[in-house]
Amino acid sequence: MKNITAVGVGYVGLITGVCFADLGNKVVCVDINEERIENLKQGLMPIYEPGLEELVTRNMQAGRLSFTTSYAEALADAEFVFIAVGTPEGVDGEADLQYVRMAARSIAEAMEHPLIIVNKSTVPVGTGDWVADIIREYRNNSVDFDVVSNPEFLREGAAISDFMYPDRVVLGSLNRDAAEKVAQLYLPLRATIMITDLRTAEMIKYASNAFLATRISFINEISNICEALGADVKEVATGMGYDQRIGHAFLDAGVGYGGSCFPKDVKALAYMAEIRGRHPQLLRAVMEINHYQRRAVVRKLEDALGGLRDKRIGLLGLAFKPNTDDMRESPSIHVARMLQSAGAHVRAYDPVAMKAAARMAPDVELAQDPYSLAEGCDALIVVTEWNEFKNLDLARIRDLMARPVLIDGRNIYDPATMKELGFYYRGVGRGYEDQGTQ
Ligand code: UDX
Repeated sequence: MKNITAVGVGYVGLITGVCFADLGNKVVCVDINEERIENLKQGLMPIYEPGLEELVTRNMQAGRLSFTTSYAEALADAEFVFIAVGTPEGVDGEADLQYVRMAARSIAEAMEHPLIIVNKSTVPVGTGDWVADIIREYRNNSVDFDVVSNPEFLREGAAISDFMYPDRVVLGSLNRDAAEKVAQLYLPLRATIMITDLRTAEMIKYASNAFLATRISFINEISNICEALGADVKEVATGMGYDQRIGHAFLDAGVGYGGSCFPKDVKALAYMAEIRGRHPQLLRAVMEINHYQRRAVVRKLEDALGGLRDKRIGLLGLAFKPNTDDMRESPSIHVARMLQSAGAHVRAYDPVAMKAAARMAPDVELAQDPYSLAEGCDALIVVTEWNEFKNLDLARIRDLMARPVLIDGRNIYDPATMKELGFYYRGVGRGYEDQGTQ
């Protein structure tokens, strides 16, 4: 049993803290946001993550997990301190490290005994050294410490299972002994543990996310070519995926990637390259294709309706992907803005992200379910592939709409079935587009 402190109770910090507690460690989570900490003490979660509430409650009751806003309290018995604060996108795509700086300084000022400081936040390559400089600058004595990079590979909506069953744990440090000590924490997971140097560990995170984003933009480019050549990109992706070197994952064409990671990390990696005189052609193309996919969906709608002014458009889904309430960089926000600037009236329904929508898309009228959303709409767009959208009574949806136009931004429906039902249906890359206007 080790004493672990997690700094930051967001997606990464809270999952890291509660999972290490569930593995039998004694964990204190610290955050400067008093409201979040008070809510967590009452068992109220700051994020929607399947299984999180039960895990937090169980480990708090077992006395393995506690929450505080005091760094002194949080570090009193700590052996390991995980920095898991946000690194939002800054100017020009550069990662904004103000929260990492604040956390590192607070740790330095409060630490009274040797600590292993573990960087879990996604930080630009070389930040590990920078954190060490901050600790040295602000520590009020010459207490010993080490910095280890331990990037996270958690997907929202699957974060707990991704922590408990990782494909690999990556650790990087200038002091291998410190990395080995952090590796001990992960032994119960029986996963592959890779130990390398600080910069390489930080780069593995960026390169992994950038590659996954590249796969998505690749299949989206193929989908656009499929529309010109009459091929079905879903079948193409399936056929490609049987090749063990390619695999089936992350080849779903659609309205593109969103979230708090891919957009930010691809931009940050491109920025790191450019300020060092390297031109990241591929990363630039990955971002450009992703932006195009949003515009393409709006163009398909414009083609279908012969114009967007005064049309009533319903968005099926707001979250950047299913099983999360997160709307950061969600395609729905960009699509809604483009439709509204073209004079359309936008409505939306999402099973979980309705609270986030009120904050992030305040001028989008919210419906209580897919059927009330469909009522009177000139068109619907599938933006998030929630399972409940895959089993809708589509005949009822069609009869509720002013026009039977559906743009399937996540290819969840079968084109032939939609045609039989009398829809004007357009997916992404689902063969030729020649259906005229409605
Ligand atoms: C991602 C990485 O998967 C994870 O390893 C990393 O730690 C954080 O970033 P996340 O952003 O939570 O996780 O979601 P993910 O499931 O990767 O999807 C990202 C975006 O890509 C979503 O908007 C999703 O809709 C989109 N996507 C995903 C596609 O458009 N096509 C696909 O085939 C897969």
